[in-house]
Amino acid sequence: MIIMSVESSCDETAVAITRDGREVLADEIFSQIDIHTIYGGVVPELASRCHIEVISRLADSAIAKAGISRADIDAVAVTCAPGLIGAVLVGVNFAKAVALALGVPLIPVHHIRGHIAANYIAHPELEPPFIALVVSGGNTLIAHVKDYTDLEILGSTRDDAAGECFDKTARVLGLGYPGGAKIDALAKDGDENKYHLPVSRLEDNPYDMSFSGLKTAVINLAHNSEQKNEELDRPGLAASLCKAISDSLVPRAVAAAKACGCTKLAAAGGVAANSVIRRDLEHAAAKAGLELYLAPLSLCGDNGAMIGCQGYYEYLAGKRAGSDLNAWASIPADNSIVF
Ligand code: KG4
Repeated sequence: MIIMSVESSCDETAVAITRDGREVLADEIFSQIDIHTIYGGVVPELASRCHIEVISRLADSAIAKAGISRADIDAVAVTCAPGLIGAVLVGVNFAKAVALALGVPLIPVHHIRGHIAANYIAHPELEPPFIALVVSGGNTLIAHVKDYTDLEILGSTRDDAAGECFDKTARVLGLGYPGGAKIDALAKDGDENKYHLPVSRLEDNPYDMSFSGLKTAVINLAHNSEQKNEELDRPGLAASLCKAISDSLVPRAVAAAKACGCTKLAAAGGVAANSVIRRDLEHAAAKAGLELYLAPLSLCGDNGAMIGCQGYYEYLAGKRAGSDLNAWASIPADNSIVF
């Protein structure tokens, strides 16, 4: 089964062609980083406008690269939540038009489920059940993936996403947007014990997290050193931040796997590209006897292939959208009405 998939939830426009879920025939991505860099972050209206400009071209190019014709497309899958609402609407409307024109089914896909599915592409042997740690620019959560379309969110951030914390720190350090990869690179020369940064502990749910206090602590540290005219150890701060975020994520994910009796742990999302988090996951998973699944860096960030992969499993589970499909800025990945 050949699926054309569309992703436009934030600052990447992506169209992919996948076969039977896990085989990627083409994965076209246009990154808007250059457009938003001068503003220090994503400007939602510019993101929507850019998606409109490039999406048709990307679809044509994906079809050409996959070596198929339009008539070969059996279904269209699209991210319909969560994300910047104007941005998501562009992809949803485009996918609707393509599905209507080709007379094929339209499949709604939750972006977070797509991130998890990136691991199915990277690891052909991976099958549920497993625990997924999903860490991106807008979301941070731990889910029990019971089946391809049945997941339970065990815990999530109560405020900022981990990616937001990376991006804000990068901004304070003048590294520019998006900052996660730049902090990661800077941290390689730093002492991770240089600054003692807070790691949240929330009593009522061991899997819930909080990153707003950490973000504030980093901002205060930078401002205080500026006011006192003290030199900030920038690599040390970057390394300490990576450690604090990893210390928030990794033990919780491993504890969730143990509590649910899962032997497999997968990490997904843009922040899962972080080298400290990957290193710590490897150590912790080995110690706990868990099989660890990490997507390659190319599949950690937003892409169309992961939406096509998840779309395939949603299709097998009977999920279809009508021409009245809407977009949601925020809706849980385990919402059973839409997904
Ligand atoms: O998954 P993604 O591409 O988009 C969303 O769905 O949000 O994630 C983007 C986030 C940004 O916050 C970016 O700074 C962060 O992933 N990121 C990283 C790294 N690479 C990207 N954060 C930490 N370390 C990295 N190496």
